[in-house]
Amino acid sequence: MKRKWSLLIIAALISGCAGNRKIGRAPASLKEAFKNDFLIGTALSAGQIGERDAGARVLVPQQFNAITPENVMKCEAIHPQWNRYDYKLADEYVNYGSRRQMFIVGHTLIWHSQLPGFVHRIKSPDSLRLFMQQHIHTIASRYAGRVNSWDVVNEALNEDGTLRRSVFFEKLGPSYIAEAFKLAAEAAPGTLLYYNDYNIEQPAKRRGAIELIRKIQASGARIDGVGIQGHWHLGQVPFRDLEQSIADFSALGIKVAITELDINVLPRPKNMSGAEVSQKFASDPEMNPYPNGLPAALEEQLAKDYEQLFKILVKYKQQISRVTFWGVHDGQSWLNNWPIPGRTNYPLLFDRQGRPKPAYYRVLAVGEK
Ligand code: XIL
Repeated sequence: MKRKWSLLIIAALISGCAGNRKIGRAPASLKEAFKNDFLIGTALSAGQIGERDAGARVLVPQQFNAITPENVMKCEAIHPQWNRYDYKLADEYVNYGSRRQMFIVGHTLIWHSQLPGFVHRIKSPDSLRLFMQQHIHTIASRYAGRVNSWDVVNEALNEDGTLRRSVFFEKLGPSYIAEAFKLAAEAAPGTLLYYNDYNIEQPAKRRGAIELIRKIQASGARIDGVGIQGHWHLGQVPFRDLEQSIADFSALGIKVAITELDINVLPRPKNMSGAEVSQKFASDPEMNPYPNGLPAALEEQLAKDYEQLFKILVKYKQQISRVTFWGVHDGQSWLNNWPIPGRTNYPLLFDRQGRPKPAYYRVLAVGEK
């Protein structure tokens, strides 16, 4: 009799485990929790690629299955002079991802920021076109078959949805964007090609992005997806605009990725929105209110924001290819130094010691459902 009962209990436990992922094999990581939904990525700094960040050394392979280079593939780093390319860090980055069988993102081929001086000094449209052709051809073909997805063009739009008057626009006109996609497709036929920008979930900029993507498609160029960067603010994540954007963008027949996710918890200088990296403001202790830790109420708001965000992302998992955080842990985040240098920000799921924050557990719980 006793034996029968214990057998029954064991059987009940086993079936309970099988039916409930929480009791059974609890996912120990973000990548595991969302493995049926989308890839989970992180941006890597040069130090992390070189394995000099002890926290990241553990967290990156444990939590993430996709990586983006925070800076090492940008033009100023990889192509510092007209006739000189510097592949050292970019190769290290790609090797890092290949060794761990991760999804490798290339960021970014054509962007108005972090350009080396020689590009700004180019005078004629023909020379700039030649630069663009050689730059894309050289870099995209070097990593063809290894980089899985390129951010081909980054931040080509203004907030009102018109095209940014970048050095490329000024000299080459609006067609430079479709041309960049064609060049990337030629050089890396098997690589996914994305347009990437911040604030494109906002209505006016979104309309501009839709028009831009339609034009790329109409030109015969291939575009596989659009990256919504996702540099958002505590208590102000634009959930409704995000949902509408996922629906609108995927109606164009392309995938949507969240490519640079972080939630800024610090006050913003007046009249500032977006993520234009050239915006800079002077240091001011009043703008750095939490140098010794985030108050509990804000920690909770951060957890809530992330939880609600991931609920929406899971709802649209068919449309979403990847969700990438802009950094592994708070200590690495660019938001400690942008747009005001020397602040203490808390925008990610892991703290400065690499420990999971309350927001991490809330996101994980969304994935476990
Ligand atoms: C940022 C990096 O995180 C910083 O380290 C660097 O100093 C400036 O650029 N949009 C982008 C990213 O597409 O490449 C930017 O990354 C953040 C905004």
